[in-house]
Amino acid sequence: MSRSIDVSYDTKIPNNIGLSSDRRVLKALEKWHPGYIDWWKDSGPDGFLEDLVYLRTAVSVDPKGWAKFGYVKMPEYRWGILLAPQVEGRVIPCGENYGEPAWQEVPGEHRALLRRLIVIQGDTEPASVEQQRYLGKTAPSLYDMRNLFQVNVEEGRHLWAMVYLLQKYFGRDGREEADELLRRQSGSVDKPRMLGAFNEETPDWLSFFMFTYFTDRDGKMQLEALAQSGFDPLSRTCRFMLTEEAHHMFVGETGVGRTIQRTCEAMNQAGITDPTDINAIRALGVIDLPTIQKKLNLHYTLSLDLFGSEVSTNAANAFNAGIKGRYQEPKIDDDHRLLDATYPVREFTDGAIISKDVPALTAINMRLRDDYTRDAAGGVKRWNTIIRKLGIEFELKLPHEGFHRQIGTFTGAPITPDGLVISPAEWEKRRDEWLPSKADGDFIASLMVQVREPGEYAGWIAPPRMGIDGKPGEFEYVKLYDA
Ligand SMILES: [Fe+2]
Ligand SMILES: [Fe+2]
Repeated sequence: MSRSIDVSYDTKIPNNIGLSSDRRVLKALEKWHPGYIDWWKDSGPDGFLEDLVYLRTAVSVDPKGWAKFGYVKMPEYRWGILLAPQVEGRVIPCGENYGEPAWQEVPGEHRALLRRLIVIQGDTEPASVEQQRYLGKTAPSLYDMRNLFQVNVEEGRHLWAMVYLLQKYFGRDGREEADELLRRQSGSVDKPRMLGAFNEETPDWLSFFMFTYFTDRDGKMQLEALAQSGFDPLSRTCRFMLTEEAHHMFVGETGVGRTIQRTCEAMNQAGITDPTDINAIRALGVIDLPTIQKKLNLHYTLSLDLFGSEVSTNAANAFNAGIKGRYQEPKIDDDHRLLDATYPVREFTDGAIISKDVPALTAINMRLRDDYTRDAAGGVKRWNTIIRKLGIEFELKLPHEGFHRQIGTFTGAPITPDGLVISPAEWEKRRDEWLPSKADGDFIASLMVQVREPGEYAGWIAPPRMGIDGKPGEFEYVKLYDA
């Protein structure tokens, strides 16, 4: 059915859900729209309301051709409601209702749980835009600036996606939740965002790249789990969001990779072979590899916290209800109910790290986090290939799961990135060896200058190998209003 693949522009809100014939939801969304635009102006990219940005917009949700590129002022971007096509005969893929037809309406007994999951997911989307609000001012190139804004408008669209579900399926309290999503603010004391990592700062571009690599990947895993929902509208929404999320992680992986490449090249040019000769390397105007490792440690561990407690009855309930599945649920070879299965979980008990088997139903978060870690390891391997090819002896590593944790069994445990348990006093003393210090942050901040000549790049980062949408190196990805 092409109707559900192609995007209709017959209302202000582009969509592939027949919005023009759903007056109630159309009205609710139109009422919410001005508040969203106000939020974008107050909390979105600071100082870029008038500039023309070369952005992609979905014109179809067909995987082969959904994007169209063109210049647009960001407040005029056509945020829309896009769902992946309905799969004929789809069934609930897990839990006690396994194999029954997927729900097209909210199942009454799971209403509160479902609403909560949608609100939590929805809350992360505008939060990251707020965290990245000031980065445009220090973009290392117009190419990078454009990628930042692309990520930002798509996170905005993800907010629309969750607001649509709230307004369409949850009536009055759904509308209230939709309004609250515009009221909370990342880092606010009174009304913070719901999850820890989304209240942290994204102070510089290396943080931005680490965030899009590690934290957007948490988003990917959550969307993968929600794409397995027995509530079909949520599944279809998340399936389309995943196609956008892939680009965010591409921005992160290539951004960190280009930073590493530039550092190694500068070291080679200067004849520096010791990657720990930090002062000499920093004098070249590039970010030393040990500091890149510290940034990795920070963003990876903040992202691990987003998976929640290793053992969780909430997660068990969501799985059992068929509201949230596991990563690639249909491909897993088991009963999809987890009646007798166990799953190994690490635990911090009496000052030691132990492994124990728990009922798999209660270890749903742990399993998703393990899938995440495997997924995240791929890019680290590719970063190490860049370092090795440039002849530098250094290896980036994902830290141990018990290092620097604020959620779950390892909360506050004095564990090193290598997984050694040490005394709390020693851990505090050595903290700056493992996590970015104030001085590290100041140094990185000193490199952050806006480069606005098409085709030029700040000295700390290598140019990309390919342009966006096949564009050549000197392409003007952002036409700056006052340029
Ligand atoms: Fe998102
Ligand atoms: Fe994202």
